[in-house]
Amino acid sequence: MQVVRTRAELRAVLAAAPRPVGLVPTMGWLHAGHVSLVERARADSATVVMSIFVNPRQFGEAADFEQYPRNEGRDLERAEAAGVDIVFAPTVAEVYPPGFDTVVSVGAISWPLEGAARPGHFDGVATVVAILFALVGAERAYFGLKDYQQVRVIRRMALDLALPTTVVPCETVREPDGLALSSRNARLTPAGRAAAPVLRRALLAGSAAIAGGERSGDAVRAAMRGMLETEPAAEPDYVSVADPDTLAELETIDREALLSLAVRIDGVRLIDNEMTRA
Ligand code: PAJ
Repeated sequence: MQVVRTRAELRAVLAAAPRPVGLVPTMGWLHAGHVSLVERARADSATVVMSIFVNPRQFGEAADFEQYPRNEGRDLERAEAAGVDIVFAPTVAEVYPPGFDTVVSVGAISWPLEGAARPGHFDGVATVVAILFALVGAERAYFGLKDYQQVRVIRRMALDLALPTTVVPCETVREPDGLALSSRNARLTPAGRAAAPVLRRALLAGSAAIAGGERSGDAVRAAMRGMLETEPAAEPDYVSVADPDTLAELETIDREALLSLAVRIDGVRLIDNEMTRA
């Protein structure tokens, strides 16, 4: 496995790399969710590139950026074990050199849910992913559906900007108790970790209501909130039952619905989602 830190080194190693190339963008603190993306990429690609870059532009609060967990040594071991060929681990100045003054801003799909809760977040994500797509020129890039809206935003950007990289969505990897793997889970206290599977239980309560014939969006959102209320440590940010194409809230569930939520536990913001067919 080669580790490169500059745009120039990345270009040089890629010039000699067999194609097709698969890209797995990450912010590090690698877990089994990231590894599942690498395995998908490995199956499709002759060369697997992983980026490890905690992107300051996608964090609202400086504190959240600073507290984001980092352990490069361990990440490099895990990346190599997972089958990564090239790691791109740049500095902030390498990604955003002096004078950098461009923002990639995707429209309506980025406005609700995470976009509404975290102003500027998706501009930061789209901007860094556009740079990574341009630098790597991969045939495919792999993203997790835990961040469903992120997948939709990046896919929109790649289509609109005619970028030659196809976005491949990958299933969410979970702990045995249903908690979606996330680098942020590392910041939970033991009590918070014990409380966190309530996100999954709330999604399952919502899908069970739909499976039982409930067609009112408000009633399903109430079922999800009701489950969250059983866990005093859980502070809901949003609870959503939305059209998976537009992400607009559904009044009536008469087609596929995306159930999603964001919840703070111990001050750590966790998200999860579940797709359900009426
Ligand atoms: P990060 O949170 O490190 O996630 C990197 C990739 O792993 C994303 O595509 C994310 O959806 C996926 N992922 C995270 N948890 C997962 C899980 N439990 N199961 C499956 N996939 C999972 O998302 C980002 O970084 C950044 O926004 C990034 C795209 C790298 C841009 O900075």
